[in-house]
Amino acid sequence: MRLENKVALVTGAAKGIGMEIALKFANEGAKVIAADMADLTYSHDNVEGVKLNVSDGENCKKVFDEVVAKYGKIDILVNNAGITRDGLTVKMTDEMWDLVIDVNLKGVFNLTRYVGPHMQSNGYGSIINISSVVGVFGNIGQANYAATKAGVLGLTKTWAKEFARKGENVRCNAIAPGYVMTDILKTVPQDLLDGFAKLTMLGRLGQPEEIANAALFLASDESSYITGQTLNVNGGMRL
Ligand SMILES: NC(=O)c1ccc[n+]([C@@H]2O[C@H](COP(=O)([O-])OP(=O)(O)OC[C@H]3O[C@@H](n4cnc5c(N)ncnc54)[C@H](O)[C@@H]3O)[C@@H](O)[C@H]2O)c1
Repeated sequence: MRLENKVALVTGAAKGIGMEIALKFANEGAKVIAADMADLTYSHDNVEGVKLNVSDGENCKKVFDEVVAKYGKIDILVNNAGITRDGLTVKMTDEMWDLVIDVNLKGVFNLTRYVGPHMQSNGYGSIINISSVVGVFGNIGQANYAATKAGVLGLTKTWAKEFARKGENVRCNAIAPGYVMTDILKTVPQDLLDGFAKLTMLGRLGQPEEIANAALFLASDESSYITGQTLNVNGGMRL
């Protein structure tokens, strides 16, 4: 039970990687608030589903206040909610650009602006931002997505400094997953996915649970001397 007595808020946790993280944390003893625009696709005694649109700042403040009022604290925040609206730069509309920035980048800021200072006052916390291999290497047709996922790495390093600046035990790290089989890949043609698998040292795509294992490590005290880092969980991929 590596997360006993911990309270964890996980965004985008209705399905996919967020769901695996929520279930992994819950099985390790944490009380998990799974916050998503959609209904949860599963149930667990330690998981409470909450409706949240991370791109809505007021909604984020309300959910933050409610979670702290109900559970007294937030020990772990996983900023996982994310979307894609892919297209070559020449064809990318303002709507595609703005929507991805609002959810993947502003959405991470919207919650952490409350949770980070709250952890500082408690003197304890672990923030995990879900970036992407695309934020590290860039990718054709994903200028908007790459900008947000690289931006999240800047936020991670900034918050690692800012929320621990008075000696608080508050850590902030990022996970940069490679290609992982979830609904977000539904729009990617199979031949491209096969190509991505070949670009990894392990010769395959990832499973959501493999990202959740990394999140558990960064959430738990097993990573107590790790902060401001990016953990690449991508099978040894080069894009
Ligand atoms: N699957 C991959 O290959 C991969 C690779 C690298 C990074 N990622 C990142 O991992 C994270 C999870 O992706 P996934 O693969 O599980 O995708 P997914 O589409 O299966 O799940 C995303 C979840 O986020 C929720 N969501 C979307 N917009 C939201 C909003 N505005 N507010 C709250 N919730 C919202 C959705 O309802 C959904 O439950 C994303 O940040 C994604 O960019 C995924």
